[in-house]
Amino acid sequence: MPARINPSILSADFANLESELGRIRGADAVHVDIMDNHFVPNLTFGLQMATRLQQVSPLPLDVHLMIDDPDRWAPGYAEAGAFSVTFHAEAAQEPIALARALRERGARAGLALKPGTPVEPYLEMLDEFDQILVMTVEPGFGGQSFMPSTMPKLTRLADAVRRTGADVWLQVDGGITAETILVAAEAGADTFVAGSAVFNADVPDDAIAGLRAAAAS
Ligand code: DX5
Ligand code: ZN
Repeated sequence: MPARINPSILSADFANLESELGRIRGADAVHVDIMDNHFVPNLTFGLQMATRLQQVSPLPLDVHLMIDDPDRWAPGYAEAGAFSVTFHAEAAQEPIALARALRERGARAGLALKPGTPVEPYLEMLDEFDQILVMTVEPGFGGQSFMPSTMPKLTRLADAVRRTGADVWLQVDGGITAETILVAAEAGADTFVAGSAVFNADVPDDAIAGLRAAAAS
């Protein structure tokens, strides 16, 4: 199974998002970072903009909610047609109920963990989720350096997935480049978010192909 590459539009030109989507035709999905300036110290956009992106995007939307109170807001992104909706474990009141609400609305349910958040409490509930996002930087900004200290968490997740047979994708987000992607792939990641490594390249589609090749090297 080749690595899934989901470019993050956080590093794209926000004045031309529709045409930016045309530069990543080789991607598996487009990663959409929603930030509320409360859960993280940065602000992007919300449901109205994501809904419009969904309408014009040739790629599925992989929505990453870095917001407080996802229990209230996340289902709306699923209703808008997002392929996957990932909320943060640190912010959710009722993660299992929320994951079920997302699935009922036709989206893949994702759970995200900040670098300092332990994975153990979630290992016994992997069946409730379709993907787990291990943050490999502190969420909030693109262009930060990959944190190798998060890899043991990924290894534990990959072991649990193998042991239980759960059908769960393991995603990493933050500092993924042609240099770091193999480390994450070897630890068990199968889905890779990359912002600056894709959109800062002259030809983003070439960067996507390069990342996919580096993950398999
Ligand atoms: C960071 C976001 C990421 C970000 C990654 O909080 O969740 O999706 O865009 O950017 P890079 O790949 O540049 O680290
Ligand atoms: Zn993200």
